[in-house]
Amino acid sequence: MKVLDAGSVVRAFCVFLMAVVVVGIAIAVEGWCVKSLAIGGMMVLTGGLVAMQVRRAIWGLHHHSHKITEAAREAEKHYIDVLRRIVRLVEAGDRYTTGHSERVGVLAEKLARRIGLPKHECSLMKLAGELHDIGMLAVPARISAERCRIGVDDFRIITKHSQAGYEVLKPLTSLESILPATLYHHERMNGTGYPEGLTGDEIPLAARVLAVVDSYDAMTHDRPHRSAMTTLTAMQELKRCTPSGYDQQVVDGLAEILGLPALTEAIAASR
Ligand SMILES: [Fe+2]
Repeated sequence: MKVLDAGSVVRAFCVFLMAVVVVGIAIAVEGWCVKSLAIGGMMVLTGGLVAMQVRRAIWGLHHHSHKITEAAREAEKHYIDVLRRIVRLVEAGDRYTTGHSERVGVLAEKLARRIGLPKHECSLMKLAGELHDIGMLAVPARISAERCRIGVDDFRIITKHSQAGYEVLKPLTSLESILPATLYHHERMNGTGYPEGLTGDEIPLAARVLAVVDSYDAMTHDRPHRSAMTTLTAMQELKRCTPSGYDQQVVDGLAEILGLPALTEAIAASR
């Protein structure tokens, strides 16, 4: 960053020399009045020129800091884009998870708008969905592949993925408002979730949205140990797990998005 260029230094030096010369002449001239006028005038001139240089330097600093902020914002956008591509790439390697995070992102944004999350959070929910499981990269592939036969120790390792994902996303200032959603997307309303065992309203609403959409998408797609559930069966299962596991308001919002009132009535009738 070049704030004070060579030209500015030369100009300032010339002004200083002029000041020395004029002050010298003034001292050599007889009479206090002439001396005072010469020195005073020179001080005003020097002060003005110095003020101009300071003003230019401040403007330069402001201009450069704006450019640095813009560059940092661009770099962050690229970083996020790389993370999204990594998630897609990893999921594409497993036919059971292909496209999971992308679908979660799309549905999470719709659901967030439906239940009235703040606008700036809604537009970020798509990203939150796409990146919510990025911490799974820290889980050994051996454990991820096991799925239904996971032991207690391996499950404990899997539970670390939300914190690991949080650590990866934390430096991204543009995602600050949705960090809690990714960190707490495995919390459950009755406190049986992880990483902190939060209950009810302690769980951020955006995290409750991600939890419902994440589970819904997993239920409605094939897994090694079971076939994909129908929309109706998945919604019945989610309803069955409210309010103990999932937020009632969020599950109702999802049911609306998926085609209510017909679906709600069907769920009620099937009880
Ligand atoms: Fe997860």
